[in-house]
Amino acid sequence: MSEDIILPATQAMTDPFGRDITYLRVSVTDRCDFRCTYCMSEHMTFLPKKDLLTLEELDRLCTVFIEKGVRKLRLTGGEPLVRKNIMHLIEQLGRHLETGALEELTLTTNGSQLTKHADALFEHGVRRINVSMDTLDPDKFRQITRWGSLDRVLDGIRAAQAAGLRIKINAVALKGFNDAEMPEMIRWAHGQGMDMTVIETMPMGEIEEDRTDQYLPLSQLRADLSRQFTLEDIPYKTGGPARYVEVRETGGRLGFITPMTHNFCESCNRVRLTCTGTLYMCLGQEDAADLRAPLRESEGNELVSAAIDEAIGRKPKGHDFIIDRRTKRPSVSRHMSVTGG
Ligand code: GTP
Ligand code: 5AD
Ligand code: SF4
Repeated sequence: MSEDIILPATQAMTDPFGRDITYLRVSVTDRCDFRCTYCMSEHMTFLPKKDLLTLEELDRLCTVFIEKGVRKLRLTGGEPLVRKNIMHLIEQLGRHLETGALEELTLTTNGSQLTKHADALFEHGVRRINVSMDTLDPDKFRQITRWGSLDRVLDGIRAAQAAGLRIKINAVALKGFNDAEMPEMIRWAHGQGMDMTVIETMPMGEIEEDRTDQYLPLSQLRADLSRQFTLEDIPYKTGGPARYVEVRETGGRLGFITPMTHNFCESCNRVRLTCTGTLYMCLGQEDAADLRAPLRESEGNELVSAAIDEAIGRKPKGHDFIIDRRTKRPSVSRHMSVTGG
């Protein structure tokens, strides 16, 4: 190749390990209307509102990422639907689906606000969402979320399905809390035509509970499930880290997300942006890049684009999550709600 060929603006972002970055997760707020015990402490200090990027700035940043090769964009939180006027951002981002620049615009939500927003989500081009739900027992649901209402989430799920949205249920596997309930949850989710993924709890941020007590390796859960279900590995892929099986008895898909027992970092395709414009290149590392200053410094996007390239250039190989009795501190000091998983 001749040296002076100008590369097209949409050339993929590739990290030092040859991984193309095509998936951006955007935490639009660190706030949430629940306080899941594995995710947050009871008394969280949230960011002052003045530190947040405006919705217009978030749109501008996301658009730069899309121009640089992002094909899948997921809004997260905290709870993305509690951010004021969030539907306006979703509507704006929907234009990239219309042009074909973006393949998927989606969100991960706790479901509490879905009855209100389901129709508009579909209207703006969202087709599939992930809903976090760790139990089907209303009392246990209140306990794990500290004050959430299961009925409200179930209503939200029904509204989303009625609007035409496909749903994946996310359940964090918690020893002694929901492990015995998993077969019932799988039957329920698959019975309603939803995929489900189970997730190993990750040591992020200080919480009241002892993570060693909560941690359930999914190898163990899979072995338990195999006693009553026939699990067949399937090549289904969403761009996320789950590995899927088909459950023969239900005909539905079950995904395993195993950051602790089986690291999937070699195929990592994602980075995460926070609501203050900080870019984390890895969920499991502290290193981050500030995009807010270069965004605000110039009306053009050259500075921010260069800052993104520089950040991708130091994306680490992977995470070093550890949960054991000797390690008292979380592997990463920030809570999951800062980066949205
Ligand atoms: P799909 O598009 O449906 O595959 O979604 P997803 O699994 O990428 O996203 P979701 O927001 O549903 O996340 C499910 C779980 O996967 C959460 O606990 C995330 O923290 C976790 N997760 C997503 N990406 C990564 C990652 O790169 N590393 C680690 N360790 N966990 C991740
Ligand atoms: N470990 C694993 N998953 C977590 N989530 C929140 N905190 C943790 C944690 N410490 C999950 C939520 C949601 C997704 C974005 O991340 O349940 O489904
Ligand atoms: Fe990628 Fe980091 Fe997640 Fe591993 S932990 S899959 S490297 S973001």
